[in-house]
Amino acid sequence: MNKTLKISLIFFVLIFISSCQTSEIEQPEQTLGLFYPDYVSKPVYGFEKNKLTHDGIQLGRMLFYDPILSSDSTISCGSCHAQAHAFADHNMKLSIGVNNRMGLRNSPPIFNLAWHPNFMWDGGVNHIEIMPLAPLTNHLEMNESIVNILLKLNRSQTYKSKFLQVFKKDSIDDQMMYYALTQFMGSITSFESKYDHVKQGKVAFSSSENRGYTLFKTHCNSCHQEPLFTNFSFRNNGLDSVFKDLGRALITLNHSDEGLFKVPSLRNVALTYPYMHDGRFRTLEEVINHYTSGIKHSKTLDTSFFENPIQLNPN
Ligand code: HEC
Ligand code: HEC
Repeated sequence: MNKTLKISLIFFVLIFISSCQTSEIEQPEQTLGLFYPDYVSKPVYGFEKNKLTHDGIQLGRMLFYDPILSSDSTISCGSCHAQAHAFADHNMKLSIGVNNRMGLRNSPPIFNLAWHPNFMWDGGVNHIEIMPLAPLTNHLEMNESIVNILLKLNRSQTYKSKFLQVFKKDSIDDQMMYYALTQFMGSITSFESKYDHVKQGKVAFSSSENRGYTLFKTHCNSCHQEPLFTNFSFRNNGLDSVFKDLGRALITLNHSDEGLFKVPSLRNVALTYPYMHDGRFRTLEEVINHYTSGIKHSKTLDTSFFENPIQLNPN
C-alpha cells in the first residue's frame, strides 16, 4: 500500500480524536441526563435506577482515582485507565497491578460505556454496575476484597459524608460504591470528534479525509460500525493462527468462539495505542499493514477477510 493511501486512512482514523468529557455539570442534587447526538441510538444503560447527579459523578471520580481500593494502597482504577489516553493505559502493552504484577491484556479505553452490552475483551462481564468487581478483586490488578474495601470506606469520614449526600444512607454498601463508579464511568462520552462535527453539519471533511471515510465504510464499517465505531460483536480479525488467548471461548466454552475478541471502538484511537487485546501493534500504520498483508488464517477467521480481502490500491 502506498503512502498517500495510508495517510488518507490514518487521517480518517486520526479525526476520531475527541475530548473525553463528563456530562454537563449543573446543580448538585439535580438529576442529569446523558447527552448524545440524535444519530446515536439509545444507550443500553439508562441511569433509571441509579440517578445521575453532579455529586454522584464526583464521588465516582474520587473512588476511581483512590488507591485505597487496592490491597496495598498503590493502584487505583486511574493507574491503568489514564484520561490523557481516553482512559486506556499509558502506552503500556499490558497493565501493571499491585506488587508490579503484569496483567494479561491491554487496558481498553473508557468512554460511551452506557452503550456497551458487555465488557472486557471477551465480554466476560455483562453489566456496567458489576464491572468494577473484576479489577478490584483480580490478584493481578487491585487484589482486594469487597469486605475490606467497605471497611476502609466506612472508616473515612469524608467518604461517609459524601455517600450520605448522594445516596441518603449512613453506612456505605457495595451497591452504593458500584452506583457511584458507574455514574463516573458511564457519563464519560465521546461525541465531539471531527466526525461528529461533520455529522452535525458544522464542518466538512477534507478531500483526503473523505477518501479515508469512503475506504473505511467499504472495509472497516461492518465491524467498527459508525457512529460508535463498533457493533460490539466478537470477531477474529486474523491476528494469529494459533491462539495464546482463547478470547470469547473462555466465556462461552464454544470452539467456534476461539480467538474472537470484542470489536473495539475506533473513537479516540490515536490516543489508545498500543493496539489489540495484547497491545501488539504500536502504531496505526502497523494496524493497517496487518489488515492489508498480515491476516493469519484459522478456523474462526472472520469470513469477510477471505471472501473480501482488504486490497487497497496505491491511490
Ligand atoms: C492493573 C490495571 C487495571 C486496573 C487497576 C483497573 N483496570 Fe479496568 N481494565 C484493565 C484491563 C487489562 C482490562 C481488560 C481486561 C480483559 O479484557 O480481560 C480492563 C477493562 C475494564 C473495563 C471494560 C472496558 C470495555 O470496553 O469492555 C472497564 C469498564 C474497566 N476496566 C473499569 C475499571 C475500573 C472502574 C477500575 C477500578 C475499580 C479498573 N478498571 C481498574 C486494567 C485495569
Ligand atoms: C470482521 C471484523 C473487523 C473488520 C472488518 C475490521 N476490524 Fe478492526 N478489529 C476487529 C477486532 C475483533 C479487533 C480486536 C482484535 C483483538 O484485539 O484481538 C479490531 C481491532 C482494531 C484496531 C485496534 C483498536 C484498539 O483499540 O486496540 C484498529 C485500529 C482497527 N481494528 C482498525 C480497523 C480498520 C482500519 C479496519 C478496516 C481496514 C478494520 N479494523 C476492519 C474487527 C474488525
